[in-house]
Amino acid sequence: MRVLFATPECAPLTKTGGLGDVSAALPAALRALGHDVRVLLPGYPAVLGALPQAHEAARLELLGEQARLLDAGELLLIDCPALYLRDGGPYQDAQGADWPDNPRRFGLLSRVAALLSGGASPLEWRPQVLHCNDWPCGLAPVYLSFETSRAAAVMTVHNLAFQGVFDPAWLRSLALPVATFSIEGVEFYGKLSFLKGGLAYADAITTVSPTYAREIQTEELGCGLDGLLRARRDALSGIANGIDTDAWDPQRDAHLAQTYGRWTLERKSANKEALQRRLGLAVDAGRPLLGTVCRFTEQKGIDLVAEAADELLALPAQLAILGTGERRYEEALGAAAARHAGSLGLVVGFDEALAHLIEAGADLFLMPSRFEPCGLNQMYSQRYGTLPVARSTGGLADTVSDGETGFLFQRATAAELAAAVRRALEVWRDARRWRDMQRRAMERDFSWAAPARQYAALYSRLARWQPA
Ligand code: ADP
Ligand code: GLC
Repeated sequence: MRVLFATPECAPLTKTGGLGDVSAALPAALRALGHDVRVLLPGYPAVLGALPQAHEAARLELLGEQARLLDAGELLLIDCPALYLRDGGPYQDAQGADWPDNPRRFGLLSRVAALLSGGASPLEWRPQVLHCNDWPCGLAPVYLSFETSRAAAVMTVHNLAFQGVFDPAWLRSLALPVATFSIEGVEFYGKLSFLKGGLAYADAITTVSPTYAREIQTEELGCGLDGLLRARRDALSGIANGIDTDAWDPQRDAHLAQTYGRWTLERKSANKEALQRRLGLAVDAGRPLLGTVCRFTEQKGIDLVAEAADELLALPAQLAILGTGERRYEEALGAAAARHAGSLGLVVGFDEALAHLIEAGADLFLMPSRFEPCGLNQMYSQRYGTLPVARSTGGLADTVSDGETGFLFQRATAAELAAAVRRALEVWRDARRWRDMQRRAMERDFSWAAPARQYAALYSRLARWQPA
């Protein structure tokens, strides 16, 4: 299969969360199965800087922008300095404010994705399937519907809470015909919704776990799009993500103080000690160390960790927390860290190396998410023998087996989180049982091979009745 994989972020060049990881690992896993996958990505400074060998494949004039399509082999880049050449993240400036021209930035990404997937593509290479990821690619299936001899379009939802909803005044400069601004199209309560366009026009919709595929059809987690998703349920499926088992391998991880495996678990403790030192915690092998790494947002339930902190530390236990995000959560955690110097270590920032050390050094990994489309850290932590304590939702429910490879709890409250940690620590104190659970968790196969095969099967089903 020839597949064009369009995405706003791709690790290690640019990553704000799990989508960056998926955009690197899934195309690679599909290639390993023999498929021809190219990734289309905006030419942010970090991307262009890392790929100086990229050469011009076409000059584009779209949506009133002058741009160049750069060919870097497996990657195709959109070089449009007016839109992408600036310091900051893919979606926000350095202060954390959304770029005011995001509709143009990602309108262009969507438009180029559609161009390359239709009859008017300037490239000889023609994909059979266009795979779109999250709202920044949401308009691609809409634009593609106007192309002749087009590829089939798959829309993957990594997080339904982010929809790309903007003033309808953008319609004109995005060259969207007024007919698309309807309840069957991009219109969402009087606004223009990128994601709704993708969900309405794609030939197939996927999301990143089977449970989340069901949850988004309910009012509770449907974010206002549950009606549309129910109407399209025959086109909707859930495929749980895998993880990059090379980058996340406790036997070979260069970020660790000490590598270890299933049969050398005694060596894991050197990482606990290194983590305790790194965060200024009391060095004590006998004290359970609870870790967490996440964006500080309501989704991740990081407020529940802050709320439960006093109770958790009194168990006794230590906390190792890494993340960035909303100011209110950074402040609440900062206050807890100040109250509990030596037992609560907090690092505010994005730090890949420390994320690996927390996965290896902690005893338990906390993920009290209010919703979680898939989640990657619970899989990393099982692979590292750091058993997850997670809320039973979305991909967490699909990838953690309660009492076998981790601990699940039902309601998003500080009390239920603390109760689940207590339950986990009862097992932790029983060295034999704990080892058994660790080994069972470490044995689980979270590689991309199986999910990649599921995507490939979906692609070939679609390509068979490919719209002309
Ligand atoms: P989401 O995409 O919703 O943020 P995921 O669990 O799918 O959640 O993916 C998050 C990814 O980002 C993981 O690889 C995690 O380790 C990483 N990550 C999140 N915050 C940080 C941070 N502050 N430092 C390092 N890595 C982080
Ligand atoms: C989103 C979700 C996360 C998922 C990731 C990759 O960011 O919040 O649960 O793992 O996308 O699909």
